[in-house]
Amino acid sequence: MSPSRLVDAQSGEPAPEDADPFAPDPKRLWDWQHDGASLGRETVEARGSGGVWRFRELVDPELPIGAEVSLTEGDTPLLDCPTLADYCGLGNLSVKHEGRNPTGSFKDRGMTVAVSRARHAGARVLACASTGNTAASLAAYSARAGLRSVVVIPAQATASGKLSQAIAHGARVLQIEGDFDAAMRMVLDLAREGDLALVNSANPWRIEGQKTIVFELCAQLAWDPPDWLVFPAGNLGNAAAFGKALREARALGWIERTPRLVAVQAAGAAPFVTSFEAGFAPLQPVAAETLATAIRIGAPVSFHRAVRSLRETGGLAIAVDDAAILDAKAAVDRAGIGAEPASCASVAGTRALAARGTILPGERVVCLLTGHLLKDPETTRDYHLGRLAPAPQANPPCRIPARLDALRSALTA
Ligand code: F0G
Repeated sequence: MSPSRLVDAQSGEPAPEDADPFAPDPKRLWDWQHDGASLGRETVEARGSGGVWRFRELVDPELPIGAEVSLTEGDTPLLDCPTLADYCGLGNLSVKHEGRNPTGSFKDRGMTVAVSRARHAGARVLACASTGNTAASLAAYSARAGLRSVVVIPAQATASGKLSQAIAHGARVLQIEGDFDAAMRMVLDLAREGDLALVNSANPWRIEGQKTIVFELCAQLAWDPPDWLVFPAGNLGNAAAFGKALREARALGWIERTPRLVAVQAAGAAPFVTSFEAGFAPLQPVAAETLATAIRIGAPVSFHRAVRSLRETGGLAIAVDDAAILDAKAAVDRAGIGAEPASCASVAGTRALAARGTILPGERVVCLLTGHLLKDPETTRDYHLGRLAPAPQANPPCRIPARLDALRSALTA
């Protein structure tokens, strides 16, 4: 029997023989279970780095060495940030910056695994629906692998940095007159017709790669996890991956307790929060609207996986409005760290939970920043130009004549 087998993500029951990770069924997602997989903390420490593949025994134990399609993803920094701790009214806050990945978002962690596996399986055309970052990542990794890729994205509401990356790396970019949820339905249907290998996070290989955010964090904190791990949530792939990673880290004896997971959604795209607040009521999809376009998602595919993650970790889901996201982004950017709008929902959510007294001042919090500041330059510019009022932290540029006296007086103004 192969040590890696597909199981039902909710029940753990074996998946049918013909289950294909590249053609997932959204009604019944599968996860990988690697029977007998083991990796000691000492080995992880001895390796020191290696990103996603540092944890290969827990991610994809059977992929032959050398078959990886890699751009050296992972090994992202964990930055202690006192100014953001102050901003949230807390004593100890760090950010793990996934914007430091090769294409500027956490998507590269899952993509290196999914694209490696797709190439190994002989796939020729890889596809995804995306709000932008998955498209950028897929485009880069398929270019690296010598494979073709198709990305389906909303014609409106895809940030220019992400669109530019997808075009530049040679993906076939299809812009639809519709939102992410419509794009997702289309590519799921097409994948099940057998024409394309789907690499959205419905694909369990993506989840395996994204688990390494948590594995790496545990190692960075010398196996003493924080009290809270807070992250922005859209399609709920990360929520799924983090719960699975923590389950596995506990089973391996890496950590003695799990942090509480907090999934933060934008108020205009918060079906998971609505469900959570009603005791995990069935998902009611919404027509999503938010300036944080990365998480402009109304029908998250990994809903059931995410419910399990929150239940197992005593986790929470919270919504923050666009003004709070932009305010948190201004604080993240001013800290010299910088991130795209959706990323900063984690900081906005932390601040809101601290204000409510849910997160206590003495507790240790790690906020995940999921994407780079340069992904969405328009939103940053528009905020600082006062086009997205209110903008209390705006730092607008000042136009001056090209004369020394004008420069002097501008400096003293
Ligand atoms: N943050 C960023 C920057 C994202 O791009 C995404 C998702 C998320 C957070 C939410 O993560 O879906 O795992 O809950 N972006 C996807 C995309 C949907 O197509 O790039 P999730």
